[in-house]
Amino acid sequence: MEQKKYKRTLVTSALPYANGPVHIGHLAGVYVPADIYVRYLRLKGEEVFFVGGSDEHGVPVTIRARAEGCTVQDVVDRYHNLIKKSFEEFGISFDVYSRTTSETHSKVASDFFRKLNEDGKFVKLESEQYYDEQAAQFLTDRNIRGECPRCHAPEAYGDQCEKCGATLSPDELINPYNALTGNKLVKRKTTHWYLPLDQYQSWLEDWILKEHKEWRPNVYGQCKSWLDTGLKPRAVTRDLDWGIPVPAEGAEGKVLYVWFDAPIGYISNTIEKLPNDWQKWWCDPESRLLHFIGKDNIVFHCIVFPAMLKAHGGFNLPDNVPANEFLNLEGNKISTSKNYAIWLNEYLEDFPGKQDVLRYVLTANAPETKDNDFTWKDFQARNNNELVAIFGNFVNRAVVLTHKYFEGKVPACGELTDAEKETIAEVSTIRARVEELLDNFRFRDAQKEAMTLARLGNKYLADTEPWKLAKTDMNRVATILNLSLQIAANLSVVFEPFLPFACEKLRKILNVSNIQWSDLGKVDLLSVGHTLGEAVLLFEKIDDAPIDAQIEKLKRIEEENAKANLKADPVKENIEFETFEKLDIRVGTVLDCQKVPKADKLLVFKIDDGLGGRTIVSGIAKYYKPEDLVGKQVCFIANLAPRKLKGIESQGMILSCEDLDGNLVVSAPSAPVRPGSKVL
Ligand code: 2FM
Ligand code: ZN
Repeated sequence: MEQKKYKRTLVTSALPYANGPVHIGHLAGVYVPADIYVRYLRLKGEEVFFVGGSDEHGVPVTIRARAEGCTVQDVVDRYHNLIKKSFEEFGISFDVYSRTTSETHSKVASDFFRKLNEDGKFVKLESEQYYDEQAAQFLTDRNIRGECPRCHAPEAYGDQCEKCGATLSPDELINPYNALTGNKLVKRKTTHWYLPLDQYQSWLEDWILKEHKEWRPNVYGQCKSWLDTGLKPRAVTRDLDWGIPVPAEGAEGKVLYVWFDAPIGYISNTIEKLPNDWQKWWCDPESRLLHFIGKDNIVFHCIVFPAMLKAHGGFNLPDNVPANEFLNLEGNKISTSKNYAIWLNEYLEDFPGKQDVLRYVLTANAPETKDNDFTWKDFQARNNNELVAIFGNFVNRAVVLTHKYFEGKVPACGELTDAEKETIAEVSTIRARVEELLDNFRFRDAQKEAMTLARLGNKYLADTEPWKLAKTDMNRVATILNLSLQIAANLSVVFEPFLPFACEKLRKILNVSNIQWSDLGKVDLLSVGHTLGEAVLLFEKIDDAPIDAQIEKLKRIEEENAKANLKADPVKENIEFETFEKLDIRVGTVLDCQKVPKADKLLVFKIDDGLGGRTIVSGIAKYYKPEDLVGKQVCFIANLAPRKLKGIESQGMILSCEDLDGNLVVSAPSAPVRPGSKVL
């Protein structure tokens, strides 16, 4: 599709909750890709504004305050400062980094709500919400926990199950309770302001499904699925005492829903920095708006916020939302609440000065199309085998040899061999190759492409061995070093968006300051006689010891979490024997088991139930290879009303439980039994 021409680009990155430090998942999913893109545009001389900030409202910060026994303000102050510092240390080059507790934000968000309210864009609805009578408060979705209706994990949140990833509403939870006190909940009536998303359904269908087919498949797919299900009105206010008071009559004790005010934070942070110039970025149709986010934020940035902007009028809509999937850590889900993460502040304590190594590894493993895994061994290997052995080694050899043979001055290029002409031809295409990828938000491949240039240089030096020619042919040595240094100068540009610290170092080594993106591909960037700077190492090898220490640290956390998990879940309410009797649990033998196409989590079973066989669909694909289950016996609920999952009718439910690592294992009789036997 022909790309529309824009005058300038406004880049936003999700505002992280100020309820804890930021970790590598945040960096990989949102901030590094956004920063690469912004640096790339700046290098090209384009007009760009990069907005960040902390999300200081909502329930997560209040939960943290309660856990730490301090005020919410204390929590957000502390983490806002810590997060801001981490971003600075990792070179995330925001033009503004502010916070949603700022006065500007409170005013902008209140005005936004007021306008929508005055323009009749909300509907006021009374509904029954969960209420904790003992604590005398309504509970937000995040503060309600209960059993997940899909995977039956015992502690799903009212908005999401962390175990199976399902998006939930509190009404769907089985036996909901107050997450903080454990109190049982009752329903009580309350009135809220709703954004009637159903009224935006057909507009959103046209705008996203027809006009934005170029969005990443994961983003487009998630939007399509929301739209196919049919949008419903969404409450934009909450009964809570932390947040921006709702500026409307009859709204005492209510605040704006965090997902209403947070995206407005992008606007207010721009206003804070550019009070007289912000409209240019938000309202001029020649400005392009991009939201960098993680996949859990897609619905808010592609559906809810655009509907808010549309309802308000006068604002640009996002042109693209390059959302990433999730990054796992050593095969496990990163979790703030379980402290299972690599926190950026701790990383820098353990690996001072190695920001670019982490940026490099996170981009190399960017979860662009699917969830990806970070492992410390891969981190070490990519540092030692790629950054050190290829990029760093190449630059170092070229510079050290120039100091040795030519007093640190760029020597003249003589006659070129055919191989050298080919090398130059390859160098000349680097800009187009990287641009094509970056323009399409393919950061992982773009960095890989940049690395091919370092590989090319490294191989060139290894093949030509100028250190051996020094005794016989100084003209050849001069040519080889000239060309090598020109490639090194290209590297200082092409890697700038990815590895800003290393490139700054490299520019010092080469003693250059003014190479532009448009210079990429040229081999006359350093003039003959130009004096190089000192030859320092760009990257250093990382030994086994610090890597093993990190692996051990994560194992310890896993073990602690496993121990904490050993505490059994509270027992559900008693039931009468007659109720129990209604359940028909049987044992069956697995005759066949297959993955369900296009459903990561589902397996479809053919079960010998002693009654001619039945089909059951079960969400345990993550834990088993289908072939390993064939021939096994499993317990299943035989009289659960059939229901369709991904178009397949499931005639029952296979029973499973969690092992010590939190993986699901099917439950089975301790000795083989006749298929169809009752579990009594
Ligand atoms: O998911 C989160 O961490 C949210 N705090 C993201 C908010 S993005 C934007 F809307 F501010
Ligand atoms: Zn679940």
